[in-house]
Amino acid sequence: MKLQLSTWPEVEEYLAHSRAIVIPIGSTEQHGPTGMIGTDALCPEIVADGMAEKTRILIGPSLSIGMAQHHLAFPGSISLKPSTLVRVIGDVVESLSSQGFTHFFFLNGHGGNIASVQAAFSELWAASSFRAQASTVRLRLHNWFQGERVVRLSRQLFGDGEGSHATPSEISLVLSAYPEAARDVVLDPEQASTGPIRDAADFRRLHPDGRMGARSGLATADHGRRLREAAVADALDALEKFVSG
Ligand code: NI
Repeated sequence: MKLQLSTWPEVEEYLAHSRAIVIPIGSTEQHGPTGMIGTDALCPEIVADGMAEKTRILIGPSLSIGMAQHHLAFPGSISLKPSTLVRVIGDVVESLSSQGFTHFFFLNGHGGNIASVQAAFSELWAASSFRAQASTVRLRLHNWFQGERVVRLSRQLFGDGEGSHATPSEISLVLSAYPEAARDVVLDPEQASTGPIRDAADFRRLHPDGRMGARSGLATADHGRRLREAAVADALDALEKFVSG
């Protein structure tokens, strides 16, 4: 069930039996010469769609612009500052909690969002502490790419070619939903170098084609279909544990 495709009476009816919502959160940033700029936002959407096929859970609109300052030297990348993302997450949670939602499951597709999501959670807890009022809100961050089944499968499929940015896993997952979008580009070197993440100019200097440590050319739609199944199972397990408390 998608919030964007629902009416308010349908959401009111949903709230009568469930107070949980899945919020996909991603990023709009370069993913090397073969990965689409929407990769990090599309991945959690694809996983959320799979969750909705298996259980009646409300899927919120994707927060598709994240904390991606280090990609800004590549055209097409858009970033929120960490402090902006913290406020966006806080406003989303407070909007929905004012209507009775209590369980917020952030399904994340971008490592660069993790610190800001955790800071947003801390801000929300701090707000209820300073009001000295017990909050009914429950918050959970689930990174689809770190689920147990996903990690096992990507290790099996790609070994150390997984790398950390423009990974064959994330590109495969997108290709499972958009197979016609596969790019026929020769990547040189086949496996990109790794290194620290600082600012945008430094990132482009260290990682000139935008990849980090990844053999992105290993990505296929078939691998993506297996990863989707694994990611959906991981996310449903995590959601079940979260909601049952
Ligand atoms: Ni990514």
